[in-house]
Parts: sequence; structure tokens; C-alpha cells
Amino acid sequence: MNRPIAFGRCSKIFEVDKSSILKLYDKGFADEKIQQEYDNIKLIATHTDLNIPKPLKMVKLNDQTGIYYQKISGTSLMDLFLINPLRYFTYGKIIAKLHRQVHQYQVNGLKTQIEVFSKLLKNTNRLNSNEKELLLNTLRLKKRFVLCHGDFHHGNIMVDSLGKYYILDWMDAFSGDYVLDVALTAVNASVSDAPKHIPHIYYYAYEFIKRVLKLDRRYLNLYGSIEPRAIRDNLLLASGIHLARFSGSNLASHRHYFEAILSSKT
Ligand SMILES: Nc1ncnc2c1ncn2[C@@H]1O[C@H](COP(=O)(O)OP(=O)(O)O)[C@@H](O)[C@H]1O
Ligand SMILES: [Mg+2]
Repeated sequence: MNRPIAFGRCSKIFEVDKSSILKLYDKGFADEKIQQEYDNIKLIATHTDLNIPKPLKMVKLNDQTGIYYQKISGTSLMDLFLINPLRYFTYGKIIAKLHRQVHQYQVNGLKTQIEVFSKLLKNTNRLNSNEKELLLNTLRLKKRFVLCHGDFHHGNIMVDSLGKYYILDWMDAFSGDYVLDVALTAVNASVSDAPKHIPHIYYYAYEFIKRVLKLDRRYLNLYGSIEPRAIRDNLLLASGIHLARFSGSNLASHRHYFEAILSSKT
């Protein structure tokens, strides 16, 4: 196989021909999750007119599983930021606008936020029983459920030479409260690690920016018009979800962030 044209966290992206790519997952990555990504994106392709790479087929190659997609001839916003980190600040508004577009849709057939997160929260040993109850209450609040991406960040957005934006990577999509989806992005901006494959200088620059600037609040402001109480409850829920499913090394900073929100009033 040729050299990859891009890297995912647990996958490599290969060009197949001018119009298609293969996202090939690492050995041992759970097939169930890849199937989830494929099922989600098929639903979204059928029921919305969002710009997304069309899913072509799911394949097994020896002991790896992958998905063929329509190739997007463009660059991810993450790669643009690597060329010029200041773009991180100029693209914020566009990212929030795309996020609001996602939330315009309701897609039947997607798992709900309750189906996706209650098991995760109940089973984790990183939260105590009071904390779990608090989060499960927010999770179950009756709201109008809309399409949520679940992992909306600059690595999952591409732009082509005509300035058309595409939203990728729908594995974590669910039907739920848009405020939770916004909070997941906000918390991610504040606590997640930069991907390992990027050059060291950027890795450390990102870690520095994250600590100095309040990127979570910045994203909430960019998205705009969310009631403060809903923000606080969903930031707590989103940080509990990140804490429960996080598999990297800076667990302490995730816990620290969760506790800071827990002790805040709004
Ligand atoms: N359909 C596509 N066309 C072109 N490049 C793609 C496509 N899908 C993914 N990529 C590239 O691969 C990177 C990682 O893909 P992504 O689906 O987000 O993987 P992961 O699930 O591991 O985060 C993207 O940021 C983008 O640069
Ligand atoms: Mg991604």
C-alpha cells in the first residue's frame, strides 16, 4: 500500500484513486465502533444535506477493518493551523457556524445521548456515585433532541480550494441536546492532548495555549446564546464523559477540570 496521506488517532488514511480514500483502522481496533461510524455516516448522508464525505463501503483487509470514503480534495483545519497557528483564532467563528448547521437537523435512527453515555458513566470508576447521579440527571433531561457530532473539532473539518467546508468523522454522533455537543467541543479544547503525530514544537505550543487561554469559554461564546445554567450543567456532563472515556496520560488534568466545574456556581 502507498504511504498514508493523513493520520487519524487510531487509523491511517490512504488515497485509493482520484475520488476515494480508505480510512484503515489499526489492528485490534473494535469493529463494533467502525461499524458505528459507517452506520452513522450513512444515516447522515441520507437524511441531511450537510457536506460530508460520502461513505462507499466497509471492508476487512487481512486483520484490519476500514471504510472507503469519497475523497475530499482539501486540507483539514488542523493542518492549516499547523502551517499558521494564528489561524486557530480566525477560524473559530466558522467552526461555530458549521456546528450550528449540524444542530439544525433531526436524524431518526441515531442512538440517543442516553443510549450512548449512560452505560459509560455508570461503569466508570473515575466518578463517585453522587457525581454519577448528577451527570445522569442532566443526561436524561427532556430536551428537543437534534443531530450532534460528538467530536466536533478542527481536525474533523476540511476545506477545499473553493472554500467549501466538509465535516468528517461521525463515529461519536448521537441524537441529543445541542448544548451537550457544544460543551463536548469546549471541554475538548481545554483538556484534550494534541495528536501525537504533529511536530513537537506545535505539540508544546498547543499545550501552552490551552493552559493560558480559556479555550472552553471562548468556544461557548463563539457558539453564543446558551443559558448559563445549561452551560454549567452540560460542561460538567461533558467533562465527566471526557474523564470516563479518556485513554491518554493526563488523567489528572481531566479530573482537575471536572472538579473545577463542579465547584463553580455558573
Ligand atoms: N474523505 C476524506 N478525504 C480526504 N482526507 C480525509 C478524509 N477523511 C479523513 N481525511 C484526513 O484524515 C484525517 C483524519 O481523519 P478522521 O476521519 O478525522 O480520523 P480519526 O477518526 O482518527 O480522527 C483528517 O483530518 C483528514 O486530514
Ligand atoms: Mg477525527
